[in-house]
Amino acid sequence: MIRFNQVSKVYPGGTVGLNNIDLTIGKGEFVVIVGLSGAGKSTLLRSINRLHEITSGEILIDGQSITAAQGKRLRMMRRGIGMIFQSFNLVKRSTVIRNVLAGRVGYHSTLRTMLGLFPKPDMELAFDALRRVNMLEKAYQRADQLSGGQQQRVSIARALAQEAKIILADEPVASLDPLTTRQVMDDLRRINRETGITTVVNLHYVDLAREYATRIIGVRAGEIVFDGTPIQATDAAFSEIYGRPVSGDERLGGQALEAN
Ligand SMILES: Nc1ncnc2c1ncn2[C@@H]1O[C@H](COP(=O)(O)OP(=O)(O)OP(=O)(O)O)[C@@H](O)[C@H]1O
Ligand SMILES: [Mg+2]
Repeated sequence: MIRFNQVSKVYPGGTVGLNNIDLTIGKGEFVVIVGLSGAGKSTLLRSINRLHEITSGEILIDGQSITAAQGKRLRMMRRGIGMIFQSFNLVKRSTVIRNVLAGRVGYHSTLRTMLGLFPKPDMELAFDALRRVNMLEKAYQRADQLSGGQQQRVSIARALAQEAKIILADEPVASLDPLTTRQVMDDLRRINRETGITTVVNLHYVDLAREYATRIIGVRAGEIVFDGTPIQATDAAFSEIYGRPVSGDERLGGQALEAN
């Protein structure tokens, strides 16, 4: 469903973001990408929807090249890919429901969505998406009145309203406390299991990666240095990925204990 063929990315200035990546991610997988800061996790994730342009190779989504896509075709392909950011990327002064409806923008003319005119089926989709992340009662609250975890659940609802077939989440819990982190990860997992949405998440907590992933991909210096199941991702395997032993702040559990 997502296929990387010999994908490389060199940033202006010469930094190698990705070095000749070959990778296939199947429908319904819950993939967690791990690696040190600067390893290339964001570059890998963001190249899938072309938030980052690759330098060579090709990325296929359901057999169609997103690398070669332009104009309407590119917009249609991107519409199928929801993106979740560490910083939530909500319109803070807008209501929750408006933020979720933003997921429908790709389906309508600009004028219509600028005027905030969404057809009834869109409203139903948006409310249903909010229900699935347990945020229905906050529908008319302003986004900036929500906690971080609640804001992140709204951004998940936006991806659902978008009817995404793929969710890309770049450090979705990095700004959250341990309890909220689990709630957001639980939502992502439940939605992945219920709907079969292919989910790719960058995380830097090794215990969370093991707990939630169906497959863990380890990245170092723009290359895939580990690809296996959570059971195969032992502490020794993580040390290989990181090039050093796993430290305390890379464990959510460890961090929570220290905080107590
Ligand atoms: N816009 C850019 N211009 C130049 N170099 C960049 C740019 N973005 C990333 N890089 C470099 O590419 C490499 C991979 O960066 P990337 O952001 O993918 O790492 P990451 O694994 O997501 O790190 P982090 O855990 O800190 O988010 C790093 O060496 C980084 O400095
Ligand atoms: Mg990153």
